[in-house]
Amino acid sequence: MAFRAPGPLKGAVAVPGDKSISHRSLMLSALAVGESVVEGLLEGEDVLATAAAMRAMGAQITRGEDSRWHIYGVGVGGLLQPETAIEMGNSGTSTRLLMGLIASHPITATFTGDASLSKRPMGRVIEPLSLMGAEFTTSPGGRLPLTMRGINPAVPIEYRLPVASAQVKSAVLLAALNTAGVTRVIEPVPTRDHSERMLKGFGAELSVELDGATRIISIRGEAELKPQHIVVPGDPSSAAFPVVAALLVPGSEVTVTNVGLNPTRAALFDVLRMMGGDISFANEREVGGEPVADIVVRGSALKGIETPVETVASMVDEYPVLFVAAALAEGRTVARGLEELRVKESDRIAVMAEGLRAIGARVEELEDGLIIDGTGGEKLPGGATIAARLDHRIAMSFAVAGLASKGDVMIDDMAPVATSFPGFVNLMTALGAEIA
Ligand code: S3P
Repeated sequence: MAFRAPGPLKGAVAVPGDKSISHRSLMLSALAVGESVVEGLLEGEDVLATAAAMRAMGAQITRGEDSRWHIYGVGVGGLLQPETAIEMGNSGTSTRLLMGLIASHPITATFTGDASLSKRPMGRVIEPLSLMGAEFTTSPGGRLPLTMRGINPAVPIEYRLPVASAQVKSAVLLAALNTAGVTRVIEPVPTRDHSERMLKGFGAELSVELDGATRIISIRGEAELKPQHIVVPGDPSSAAFPVVAALLVPGSEVTVTNVGLNPTRAALFDVLRMMGGDISFANEREVGGEPVADIVVRGSALKGIETPVETVASMVDEYPVLFVAAALAEGRTVARGLEELRVKESDRIAVMAEGLRAIGARVEELEDGLIIDGTGGEKLPGGATIAARLDHRIAMSFAVAGLASKGDVMIDDMAPVATSFPGFVNLMTALGAEIA
């Protein structure tokens, strides 16, 4: 499939619900006693994998005709032994957070995943969860398929995150829920804080202290979670694609409505503005404890920059599409501090460097990032086929690149997009993109 822009992109669209918040809303609802309701849940494959896993461990989860999800939880400590292996598909977030949940329950579980997930490191969650008492047998390199045995009672720990990872932080906090005493996670680099916000919302005793930039998160275990009504905002990581597309296609004017703008997630929009992007927020409001706005974006002449290293974690999933923007900007963009990108759904540094070069961009690959010399607004040559490598964000980034290329940018497999952004193709065509 290839995407083209015969003219400016125009219109107002809404992106699906936030993936991170959707996973957490199902997991915490499944641990509350009684019925929680979730509106705006992302109905993508990753989140459906979480739903299936929570069902397999005893939660009742149904989708109403009004597309609200109803979850009847089992209570903290009430998860049941699943009867079969837990199939996680492509979803690292499901896997790592569920490993946390299971760690403090007397459950033995086997996790399996697709070829992409089976390459991703799990040692980062195995380490703290082992300190709490869980046991693991993994495939070579600490990878899936793996079997774990949770333990009750588990041991509360104080754990300093060696990598800036919201998944690792969340795995420990979720394990702590069914662990007597206080568990502490020390976070030297702030990462997305949806777990903290939502745990508090469900009634867990959780506090965050600041020591300079370091966050010290304390949670008291054996919590009793109260059911909630959750409204999931649109995913800023999904909004990134139509936003960059609109910046790159001259004359475009696009509004993406109802986008979550939690400061631990929204740094891409600041960086695009630093590059000269005409982006503004309208209708700013708060929805379900998260800041939300409509993003209004117009086609813009972008300039290359040195991307800030302090906010890498607050836009970690948005670099692939930012690299596409940089390839069309005037001058050089230097993006560093991105070693974590090598262990996402694909090695996003290598795959973006290779793909951008194939369509005619000037890119130098570094161990921890990319240097890109942009065209100054001139379309890229295009005329290549990109292997998406089971990585939804690679597929969508090159769909956007196609809109700013002379020749077709073919993507071999758009199927992975269904993990996070069902409806992506329809949304882009509604804005005026064409599919070749
Ligand atoms: C996520 C955290 C990030 C992000 C992922 C979702 C989450 O991963 O890349 O898409 O929901 O906690 P890391 O924790 O590995 O940084």
